[in-house]
Amino acid sequence: QTPFGVPLSGIYKKSFAYITLKDRLPVILTKIIDTLSRNKENIVEKYGENAVEEVKQIMGFISKLKNEIGTNKTLKPLRLLPDSKDNDAEEWNKYLIKRTEIEGGTPTWFNTTWLYCECYMYRALAQEIALLKFMKNYDPFEQQKQSAFINSLSSVEVLSAYTMNLIHKVENLSIVETKEELFKFLKSNLWGNKCDLSLSAGAEVSQSSNPIEVLKSLDKNILVNNLDFVWNLLQKKDSNDINIIDIILDNAGYEFFTDLCLAAFLIATKLAEKIRFYVKHYPWYVSDTTTNDFNWTLTYMQNSPNESIQELANYLKNNVWTIEEELYWTSPYDFAEMKEHDPTLYAKLSEAKLAIFKGDLNYRKLLGDINWEYTTEFKQSLRGFYPTHILSLRTVKSDVCVGLVPGIAEELFKKDENWMFTGEYGLIQTTIAGTC
Ligand code: F6P
Ligand code: MG
Repeated sequence: QTPFGVPLSGIYKKSFAYITLKDRLPVILTKIIDTLSRNKENIVEKYGENAVEEVKQIMGFISKLKNEIGTNKTLKPLRLLPDSKDNDAEEWNKYLIKRTEIEGGTPTWFNTTWLYCECYMYRALAQEIALLKFMKNYDPFEQQKQSAFINSLSSVEVLSAYTMNLIHKVENLSIVETKEELFKFLKSNLWGNKCDLSLSAGAEVSQSSNPIEVLKSLDKNILVNNLDFVWNLLQKKDSNDINIIDIILDNAGYEFFTDLCLAAFLIATKLAEKIRFYVKHYPWYVSDTTTNDFNWTLTYMQNSPNESIQELANYLKNNVWTIEEELYWTSPYDFAEMKEHDPTLYAKLSEAKLAIFKGDLNYRKLLGDINWEYTTEFKQSLRGFYPTHILSLRTVKSDVCVGLVPGIAEELFKKDENWMFTGEYGLIQTTIAGTC
């Protein structure tokens, strides 16, 4: 059992950290090797004959990495690019030194903190790919992400039609209706976070039901619901500045599509004037959205034979949003460390009226991946990270959770000792900016 107050780690055998290191990460890595060997021909077509050698090289690296995790070896410094400009690998290597000092020896996979070594795995893989000559832009998860989106098309169609229908009649929506619809968009956005390919190790996680109809039945699984706070905040026009909402994205596929619907609704209702979408700079946690996934999705939607999907893509195209690529999201640091390590990003987030953090990993980084007592106040667990008002939309897929009413966690453990690993429960948690 993980004691309260310490960061999650593979040393605690009953934790999801342990299960992840022992079972989940090796499966994710094996799957990349399979994808590489199955797609050799396509790869050669795209990157040329020389890619054959590079495929072998990457496969070799992955097998070695798998073995090192399985035998609890030390984490190694990343190999640097010849021209290491614009590359944060050195920062990762500095962090390794810092952890070595803290831990009194070089960190090993199961003994160091889970957040660090799990992020390190994705970063190390990205670095080896970046070091290649021909395949340096290869995304090992691209296919999985694209098919997850395509397999969710029935829900995508329903939600597109629903969104466009509302946008068409937006002028006629009463305040009460606008509030109700906002809540529906935020809730379907929350549940979209169940579609994460790293939890299922890439097995099918598409969405196939009617995403609006199921909402009511899922309400009982929302453990904290601060939607009223969000409504009160967004409705208030308190400055002359342009009203920005930041969305720190999580997974591509169906979840990202729900992000787009939410953004369209916020713009159409003028609850926001501009949306900034933060993507990952590297392929991350299997399904996280990169710039490439972002553009692929919009292009796919634009070329869709379905009218509402196409219309929604065009609506988005003509509106005010930006894609923001920031290295911090794929750095070794949690969010409380942002002020020190990336004050520019901290200041940028503080320009927004609200920053929406999507998903489980962002939640872990908000909390520093500490095993807080479950009744700890959300704000306390953020440890000074208050750049602006924060909304976290997360389905529970790892063993950290705060803000629960006393007794709830105990009840849930009685019902299912693995309730924190399934994604069945959701949190809609907010905190007000300010350093009180
Ligand atoms: O593997 C760790 C983990 O945080 C899981 O708990 C979760 O399944 C996954 O990574 C990421 O989830 P999300 O895509 O919601 O951040
Ligand atoms: Mg993710």
